[in-house]
Amino acid sequence: MQDSVLTIRPARGVFISIEGIDGAGKSSQLASIAAQLGAAGHSVTLTREPGGTDVGEALRELVLQRPMHAMAEAMAVFAARAQHVHEVIAPALAAGRTVLSDRFSDASFAYQGAGRGLAWADLQTLAKLAQTVALDNGQTVFVQPDLTLWFDLPPATAAARRAAARGADRFEREDLEFFTAVAAGYARRAAEQPQRIVRIDAAPAPEQVAAQVHAAIAHFLQTHGVQR
Ligand code: TYD
Repeated sequence: MQDSVLTIRPARGVFISIEGIDGAGKSSQLASIAAQLGAAGHSVTLTREPGGTDVGEALRELVLQRPMHAMAEAMAVFAARAQHVHEVIAPALAAGRTVLSDRFSDASFAYQGAGRGLAWADLQTLAKLAQTVALDNGQTVFVQPDLTLWFDLPPATAAARRAAARGADRFEREDLEFFTAVAAGYARRAAEQPQRIVRIDAAPAPEQVAAQVHAAIAHFLQTHGVQR
């Protein structure tokens, strides 16, 4: 199901997010994606969720470290997102910048929805509240990525990769069952919005993953006429 309330496309930048379960290796591809966009003539705003603003980073600290009820967790990530959308993402897009965010709403559907068991419809309500921006002309825009790269990796492989990393947060300490559910949540989201979400096979070596990412970005820029 589409969760947009209105689709308008004034002259604006492009919004790209990257997603995947912890350990899928998305963050290590971020710099090369930004470089590819820069080489294609885009001015890139690089950001992340939860976070991307002062308030958002404070909420991130709470969400990653303090035990809380699943609904409080969802509201906290969407509160951070509301601030992020209004303070950073919408102004950057309005200025014609390309926004590249390490995670966005799909993470909430995957982690808080599929992982914690919250209802999809409740998350859609929160998304509508957090991601709707009023324009000067009275119209509203639902801010969501134009392209999402979903780094898909079997949960057991991701767990093995995470084991090498130190200082796990509340999510990274979750078990295989949780990440299996989160991965299924991403798959559900990708099935619902195939025009936006592109699957990247994150299992091969980093260079091969990078090649898929490069091809996906190049294809998107070409087909959306946003090659600068
Ligand atoms: P992550 O983006 O993986 O950062 P790092 O690479 O520093 O670990 O960590 C953010 C964590 O927050 C990740 O485990 C997923 C979780 N998360 C949610 O549960 N819901 C959300 O809406 C978002 C954006 C993130």
